[in-house]
Amino acid sequence: MKAPIVLLVLLVACLARAEPPAAGWAPGPDQWNADDLEKDEALARIGDIAKGRAVYELCRACHLPSAAGRPDGSFPQLAGQHSTVLIKQMADIRAGRRDNPMMFPFAASLVDPQELADVAAYINSLCIPPAHGRYAGPDAATVVATGKVLYEKQCIGCHGPSGEGNKAKFYPVIAGQHYKYLLRQMVEIRDGRRRNANPEMVARIRHYDDPQLLAIAAYQASLVMPGAMCAVPAEKK
Ligand code: HEC
Ligand code: HEC
Repeated sequence: MKAPIVLLVLLVACLARAEPPAAGWAPGPDQWNADDLEKDEALARIGDIAKGRAVYELCRACHLPSAAGRPDGSFPQLAGQHSTVLIKQMADIRAGRRDNPMMFPFAASLVDPQELADVAAYINSLCIPPAHGRYAGPDAATVVATGKVLYEKQCIGCHGPSGEGNKAKFYPVIAGQHYKYLLRQMVEIRDGRRRNANPEMVARIRHYDDPQLLAIAAYQASLVMPGAMCAVPAEKK
């Protein structure tokens, strides 16, 4: 029953006429958290969990019903992420500040700021799936230890000692996120392809080579996401 839904959603994603805003739009140094009425409005609203569950129907095929995403890093885990981060990222994707052509038609179909608040409240009501993608190379112990040193030197001030981020400042939780997703994001941030990234972070990540980013991602994925863990295992895939 799940496969046809996935296929349908992917088909809609491919055929959708809605196009992301033109590439080439470049943020100024303070545009990572640009003024955005929709974002401000959504942040000010109280989300309705029941309505958010209905909105989340649009998201399930990619992010999964548990909001666990996929260990292969194609889709991030959303469960456990700060509501402010979920809202900011959705608003950024809708406004073309973060490129996400696959999700864009779905993000664009939300009708108003209240729906952003509702779906964020629903995701926040979910427990955190206990399993996620980690770095599993034979050298994992060394790589994770290297990543810890780099992380604590440059990233801890914003993403926190346990990778818990900062809800008020829109700093994402990076603990317990899929390793491959984290690595892909860091490469994109370093190479200037995640245009809504915080410039202070970009300035720090810019100096890291691929093995260093791999080590940091391995360390982050080794941390446990704060919050209520699910009692039962989420979907296996
Ligand atoms: C067709 C697949 C697809 C659908 C449907 C989809 N997304 Fe996504 N979403 C993605 C992908 C892919 C990414 C990661 C993009 C990247 O790598 O930059 C993403 C990223 C996100 C992020 C950013 C997460 C982070 O840690 O920064 C949020 C928030 C999000 N999605 C919420 C939603 C919500 C809410 C819905 C339903 C309204 C939804 N998505 C529907 C594919 C999808
Ligand atoms: C000045 C604060 C700050 C610092 C320092 C910082 N970050 Fe970030 N980080 C952010 C913010 C804000 C975001 C979300 C950016 C956005 O709005 O797209 C983010 C996003 C990320 C993401 C993507 C998370 C997701 O769910 O998509 C990763 C991975 C990440 N940071 C890693 C790092 C690493 C590694 C370092 C250290 C080298 C670092 N950050 C330093 C503020 C910071």
